[in-house]
Amino acid sequence: MTVDLQIDGAVATLTINRPEAMNALNAEVLSALDQHIRRVDEDASIRVAVLTGAGGKAFVAGADIKAMQGMKPETARSFSELGHRVFARMESSGTVFIAAVEGYCLGGGCELALACDWINASGKSTFGQPEVNLGLVPGFGGTIRLARKVGQARALQYCSTAEFVRGEEALRVGLVNALYEPGEVLTKTQEQAQGIASKGPLAVANCKRLIRAGLDLPQERGNAMEQQAFGLMFGTADGQEGMNAYAEKRAAEFKGE
Ligand code: CAA
Repeated sequence: MTVDLQIDGAVATLTINRPEAMNALNAEVLSALDQHIRRVDEDASIRVAVLTGAGGKAFVAGADIKAMQGMKPETARSFSELGHRVFARMESSGTVFIAAVEGYCLGGGCELALACDWINASGKSTFGQPEVNLGLVPGFGGTIRLARKVGQARALQYCSTAEFVRGEEALRVGLVNALYEPGEVLTKTQEQAQGIASKGPLAVANCKRLIRAGLDLPQERGNAMEQQAFGLMFGTADGQEGMNAYAEKRAAEFKGE
């Protein structure tokens, strides 16, 4: 299998497993990823998913250049659409997706990480959108998500120079949320994921929904959505349990109801 799925309680870890090709994304990898993302999305007991790459040298070094060689425009467009479809499923899911990046995170790999809810990385990781070196543009959402994350000017700089962005800079510009020691990113991210999984599941899923939707809405509509969601949480067993547990000075037992 080109993507492994491991489940530990409420946390799933998806590992892209093609280390001989720096975990490059071909149609097979994207389909395997899609299968696992669907599984994670549909299984209410899984609250957080961590995405990582096997081998330690790369998260993902991009779309598979050898597989793209000789592609006709229509096939390339379908390949781009496939990537967009798979990545969009992570964004619309109630599950939180976190990218745990060690090594190269380039092209389609950087776009995969950008489609996750946030990115944790090692100080030795390397990000970039080097498609222009190949005479191409990003095809899995890079022009959109990178610009939203780091701003239009910096996104265009990265995409048009193909420069490598090291961990420290990635942190400084907001591409990455946290840096960890090399070799520790996956464990630290899994620990973070377990922490999130212990919170109110409906509350976490709604935070994600509100923040993601809010970015595309006029502020007034975002505010209205939040007010509605805040009210609805008081009708959930978890909302009552969380506040009761606080008042009774005990740990809350959330059921996702
Ligand atoms: N596609 C296919 N194979 C890849 C690959 C990719 N994106 N990246 C690495 N590999 C393969 C190499 O071809 C090599 O295979 P062989 O041993 O069979 O030759 C193997 O992985 C190891 O790579 P290197 O020997 O090149 O390792 P290195 O340490 O010298 O360099 C690297 C690492 C800087 C990441 C270099 O491999 C590289 O530049 N890779 C390409 C990066 C790139 O251009 N990514 C963007 C792809 S286009 C894209 O992603 C489009 C899109 O948005 C959808």
